[in-house]
Amino acid sequence: MKQAKFTLDPAFRIGAVDPRVRGSFVEHLGRCVYGGIYEPDHPDADSDGFRNDVLDLTRELGVTTVRYPGGNFVSGYQWEDAIGPRSERPRRLDLAWKTLETNEVGVDEFAAWCRKAGVAPMMAVNLGTRGVQEAAALVEYCNHPAGSYWSDLRAKYGAKEPHDIKIWCLGNEMDGPWQIAHKSARDYGILANQTAKAMRLVDPDLELVACGSSHRRMATFGAWEAEVLEHTYNVVDYISLHSYYKPKDGDFASFLASGVEMDAMIDEVVATADFVKAKLRSKKTINLSYDEWNVWYHEPGDESEWAVAPALFQDQYTLADAVVVGSLLNSLIRHADRVTMACFAQLVNVIAPITTVNGGPAYRQSTFHPMRLAFQYGVGDALRVEPTGPEVETPEYGSVPQLDATATLDPETGDLAVFATNRSLTEPLQVDVDVRALKDVRPVEHLSVHGERDAVNTVDDQERIVPRAQDVPVLEDGRVRFELPPMSWSVVRLATT
Ligand code: AHR
Repeated sequence: MKQAKFTLDPAFRIGAVDPRVRGSFVEHLGRCVYGGIYEPDHPDADSDGFRNDVLDLTRELGVTTVRYPGGNFVSGYQWEDAIGPRSERPRRLDLAWKTLETNEVGVDEFAAWCRKAGVAPMMAVNLGTRGVQEAAALVEYCNHPAGSYWSDLRAKYGAKEPHDIKIWCLGNEMDGPWQIAHKSARDYGILANQTAKAMRLVDPDLELVACGSSHRRMATFGAWEAEVLEHTYNVVDYISLHSYYKPKDGDFASFLASGVEMDAMIDEVVATADFVKAKLRSKKTINLSYDEWNVWYHEPGDESEWAVAPALFQDQYTLADAVVVGSLLNSLIRHADRVTMACFAQLVNVIAPITTVNGGPAYRQSTFHPMRLAFQYGVGDALRVEPTGPEVETPEYGSVPQLDATATLDPETGDLAVFATNRSLTEPLQVDVDVRALKDVRPVEHLSVHGERDAVNTVDDQERIVPRAQDVPVLEDGRVRFELPPMSWSVVRLATT
């Protein structure tokens, strides 16, 4: 069997993994909100109409932050439609997804759901069809204590205490020509700058995210970030990145190596942000918010004709998809020094790790498992690991290392976790980790997500893909050894106390 090697050393510290990289996304799209987090007629709904089973799975997943209400949806959204008595809320045509939006759920309900789920909300404002005034009013509605028009209206509608939402996205994917009100980098940069200033006047403690590119393959990628940041550098904290992956023309070798592209996109956006920093002679560093990432199969274009909560983009995830999701999480962890926020898109039903049946159960898709494990054990400091070993050939990325690995060390507990993807479709891999730099190290557990490439979890067979315990790794001569099944993602846990 082929072998890969690397060294685990606490001195090779990249940075602390920010808990906010464990974020997700709830958009008014398909059945994510209606039939997803909210289904008042469901037997397991609470008194606010939220599905308890979805709340339980959200907590189990370990999500910390949830972005809302879009996505493309936000670029035509009028947030005022979805406040106040439900019977008076208008039904609107959502032009982004050709859906009928009932506005039964709005910012007050979402904030209440976040409190129940134990997550922080991350709001997006509409910088497509709207602008400065509406964004500032929404911040006032959410965060101003009392005594103004919008804050008093919030209290009148039942939320006396402010929602205190601190993380805000300045629009969504404004580089995308599919947006009704698509903008040039210059126009968006100027609008984002003005909006940020107004929002900060209402609440100075906000953290703001400027829109980066919708994908690395956008023709404007790079130039877009540079120009947007030149306009917004002093008033924002983050630049966003979005990426979705899928196997193209049956090319699973490249699909399993999707993390190569995620790594490249992160490095390129960091370089652009730091170039603008140098150009502006700024002391401030802009970090990255990877606020949409996932595997996504269904192409936009499936949209229904003005239905309420149609079943859109309900991808059913395979074992191969779970392995890719695991490797994308490896990429985020290894860039802990600059990627300090991230949201997998989306939480429930729409390209999601949680699937629900209307009136029926909720269950975990294959991708749920690497997320839960990486969120649970990928805590503390990210450690740089540099594997050497065999390579695999991919049509898209050329020759890439068969082992994709990263690691974390929790300084509070002394626990370590190695996250490892075997990118070979067919060959197992022996891994040899030099742990001589660690004192009293003890292997604890090896959990692996592997199996048949196209296997999926379904409502009738919910446990076809679950993490499976492997042999506990062997410690010998200062080395920890374990074996990775073909096409697998694993977490190997070590203790040092
Ligand atoms: O997550 C689904 C969609 O993907 C979002 O609405 C949009 O931002 C992206 O293109």
